[in-house]
Amino acid sequence: MTLKLNRPDLLKSKCLIDGQWIDADSSEEIQVLNPANGETVGHIAKCGTAETRRAIEAAEHALLAWQATPAATRSACLRSWYNLLIENQDDLAAILTAEMGKPLAEARGEIVYGAGYVEWFAEEAKRIYGDVIPAPDGDKRIVCIRQPVGVVGCITPWNFPNAMLARKLAPALAAGCTVVCKPANETPLSAYAMAALAIEAGIPAGVINIVSGNTSEIGAEITSHPAVRKVSFTGSTEVGKILIQQCASTVKRTSMELGGNAPFIVFDDADIDAAVEGAMISKFRNAGQTCVCTNRLLVQDGIAEEFSSRLTERVNSLKVGEGTQADVAIGPLINDKASNNVLSMIDDAVSNGAKVLAGGKQASAGERFVEPTVLSECTSNMRIFKDEIFGPVAPLFRFSTEEEAISMANDTEVGLACYFYSRDVGRIWRVAEALEYGIVGINEGAISNPAAPFGGVKESGQGREGSKYGLDDYTEIKYMCMGGISST
Ligand code: SIN
Repeated sequence: MTLKLNRPDLLKSKCLIDGQWIDADSSEEIQVLNPANGETVGHIAKCGTAETRRAIEAAEHALLAWQATPAATRSACLRSWYNLLIENQDDLAAILTAEMGKPLAEARGEIVYGAGYVEWFAEEAKRIYGDVIPAPDGDKRIVCIRQPVGVVGCITPWNFPNAMLARKLAPALAAGCTVVCKPANETPLSAYAMAALAIEAGIPAGVINIVSGNTSEIGAEITSHPAVRKVSFTGSTEVGKILIQQCASTVKRTSMELGGNAPFIVFDDADIDAAVEGAMISKFRNAGQTCVCTNRLLVQDGIAEEFSSRLTERVNSLKVGEGTQADVAIGPLINDKASNNVLSMIDDAVSNGAKVLAGGKQASAGERFVEPTVLSECTSNMRIFKDEIFGPVAPLFRFSTEEEAISMANDTEVGLACYFYSRDVGRIWRVAEALEYGIVGINEGAISNPAAPFGGVKESGQGREGSKYGLDDYTEIKYMCMGGISST
């Protein structure tokens, strides 16, 4: 079915290099499929090493002028881009749902969420301050300025095709960097539509370049080309480690937003209604396909029965279906591999003693749809305790003491987001400080917004996106030592 858009010109089939929409050197294309029904949404030129190199050269060429552009002008360009993203919210959301599958209401929310980063960094662009530091020697002055890192390679995932790109592009451009982006091959169309609006907003040619196609060739070129000074990646820990290794030979800076295994702890003293609400948001957003989605629900013995029955009731009310249908809360998973993996985790848990309280199998809506599932009596020997689920499955684990909950929560190599519910102020401080995570939701399941620093510890990565800290990853500090101050 053809996508009906107010602006059909936003649906691109070519890559963007130096302000030009280009075909790839070969005539090969990537087919973009709708995960809800397998229909073709569009095609995009399939690039490799040569096109990526040209994109990097274009970014390098555009860098001098863009970094010299006054901050107020860069800010105004970002602000115009924000306005266009919001004006075209319906089309951007329709493209996003078609290529990624999430319900249209969530897609519309993602456009606003992504645009929020553009707005935020339009403002921050004007506040890239330096420092004057008192020197130990009276004859000198120590002055620090912040300068753009240079050309940045941005590699983004399919789960938030708009917001993850916005979260990298906006601070990079605000800081005066130029970029080469590689969106996920499953969902490239959102990225090109955003870039078309960036051009309309007045962002000069070569500042944003986008290539999609041969992932390993593009990744290798971005991570090895000496002109690229930084790589920012959102995706799996496995791929993040490879990119860090590849970046080592040219000592590039890296920002890595990698996998999670979020615990969601409910203590006996929690407000159970609020905890159920928080669990629904943090678990079932994007059909469970976010790095910050609750992965393990750890529930204290005293309220375990009540919590699980209230959660099960809510989960049973979730409607599964194509994202364009009314009231759908759970869309398809991105592809067959993803849905098969989630179903195999459910099977593993059940064969090791878990009980199915809701769902548990493929949904009748179609091949890549998984029923929203609640599993009780889960234990730490199950895959579901260790692996990132990336699907609509809520496994319930029990604990009896605060110490036990903290130890279970921290028993993982990763540390992106975690959540806990308690009304005891002392416990809130103790537990928040003891959890080895970059983000802690306390009596709250929705933690993502442009004003907050998003990022993890341990194998969940390095760097922070969003907030006033988000610019740090895209700027270098230059120290200027000024001498001869006291001589007349
Ligand atoms: C992610 O899954 O990587 C991002 C989720 C978010 O921004 O909330």
